[in-house]
Amino acid sequence: MTKKRVAIPDLNDYKEAGRKLAMITAYDYPTARIAAAAGADMILVGDSLGNVVLGYESTAPVTLQQMVEHCRAVKRGADNCLVICDMPFGTYEVSREQALQSAITLMKEGGADAVKLEGGSAFAPVIKTLSLAGIPVFGHIGLTPQTLSQLGGHRVQGKTEESALSLLEAAQDLEEAGAVAVVLECITQEVAGKIDEALDIPTIGIGAGAGCSGQVLVFHDVVGLNDAFKPHFVKQYLQGAQLMKEAVASFCQEVRSGAFPTLEYSFQMEPEERKKID
Ligand code: KIV
Repeated sequence: MTKKRVAIPDLNDYKEAGRKLAMITAYDYPTARIAAAAGADMILVGDSLGNVVLGYESTAPVTLQQMVEHCRAVKRGADNCLVICDMPFGTYEVSREQALQSAITLMKEGGADAVKLEGGSAFAPVIKTLSLAGIPVFGHIGLTPQTLSQLGGHRVQGKTEESALSLLEAAQDLEEAGAVAVVLECITQEVAGKIDEALDIPTIGIGAGAGCSGQVLVFHDVVGLNDAFKPHFVKQYLQGAQLMKEAVASFCQEVRSGAFPTLEYSFQMEPEERKKID
C-alpha cells in the first residue's frame, strides 16, 4: 500500500493526533528514493549538503543554485514526499525581497514544496513575507549551523532560564509570522518540550529530545556514511561506511586477482560471428 503523502495542512493535524513526523535529509536521487521507500514523511534538502556531500567545513559556501540542483534530484526520487529545501546562507538575510526571490527560485526551479530558513525573532518579518506569498516556511532555531561562530561553536542551547525564554519567544514569533513548523536543533529537552507545548505548529527536533512533534536526522548519519563526525544526538542505524569500504575493497581485490568479471558479467558473440574473427 502506498503511504499517504503528507501535505502542509496535515502538519498540525498530525501534531494534534500525536502522530510523530519522521523527517530525514537527502541530497540526491538515490538517497531520496531510499528515504521515500522507507516511509519518511518529509525529506529535507538541507544545506548540510555543504559538509556532508560537498566536503566543505561549514554550510556557508553552499549556493542557491546548488540547492536548486540537489532539490530537483531529490524531487525526482521522492515525489510522494513533502520536500523542504533549505535557504542557504546569504540568500535571505539582505532584504525581504531577496528572501522572496530566493524562495521563489527554490520552489519554481528546485520544485521544493516548502523552504526552511535559520534564525529567531529577527527573521519573523521574512517568514511573514514568504508566507503571504504562499510559500510554506519551516523555521529553524537553537543551534543554527549557518551562524555557528556567533554561537561560539556546537553548543547546546536552552541551558539557562534566559536562553529558554528567548527560544520560546523566538518560536512563538515564527509561528505568529506564519511558519508551518519549526526545527529545534540542539536544545535541552526540557525547553524543546515546552516550546512544543506552546505552539500549534509541529516542532521537529534534532538533538532536542522526545518532546518534539517529529524528529529529523541527516541521512548519512543514520546509515553511518559519515564516519568522521558523530554528534551525541545521532543514532547510527547502520555501519554504512564500513560496509561500503568492504564492498569496494572486494571489487579492487577481485579486479587485481582476475576473479572479476566472470562470464556472468560479460557479453558473448554468437558462435557463428565469433568464428569470423578467430
Ligand atoms: O541542513 C540540515 O541538514 C539541517 C538539519 C540539521 C535540520 O538543517
